[in-house]
Amino acid sequence: STSDSSIENRLQAVCELLKTTVSHYDWVGFYFKNGNKEELKLGPYSGAPTDHTIIPFGKGICGQVAVSNQNFVVPDVSAQDNYIACSLTVKSEIVVPLFLNGENVGQIDIDSNTTDPFSEQDERFLEFVNQNVAKIIDGYLE
Ligand code: SME
Repeated sequence: STSDSSIENRLQAVCELLKTTVSHYDWVGFYFKNGNKEELKLGPYSGAPTDHTIIPFGKGICGQVAVSNQNFVVPDVSAQDNYIACSLTVKSEIVVPLFLNGENVGQIDIDSNTTDPFSEQDERFLEFVNQNVAKIIDGYLE
């Protein structure tokens, strides 16, 4: 079959579509809570491979969002001290938590090679994306 409807492949397609469609999205990926551990695990992504496949809660932008349950928009990563660099080309980042039945189960993480490209439009759009990803996951779990 040319299509694979596994959840991994559907989320992979979401990452590829976002990276291809939005010019200031240069790396797009999902991190999910790793079982009952206090850490995030990298899921499907589009862009350069990263060494940071496991991120402890509280560490970096992603780890902070796992704890805060809030969007985190970073216009300039060089101004952040609690930041995990994945690539030297990255200038900015946005992380939006993914809620499933009210619980923060993961996040979408986007890196940009442009400084200060993210607006409230990106936040609203990525919240919408995550709501739909949550529906995909929920349907899969049922
Ligand atoms: N920069 C992130 C780490 C993940 S990479 O961007 C793919 C952070 O500080 O949490």
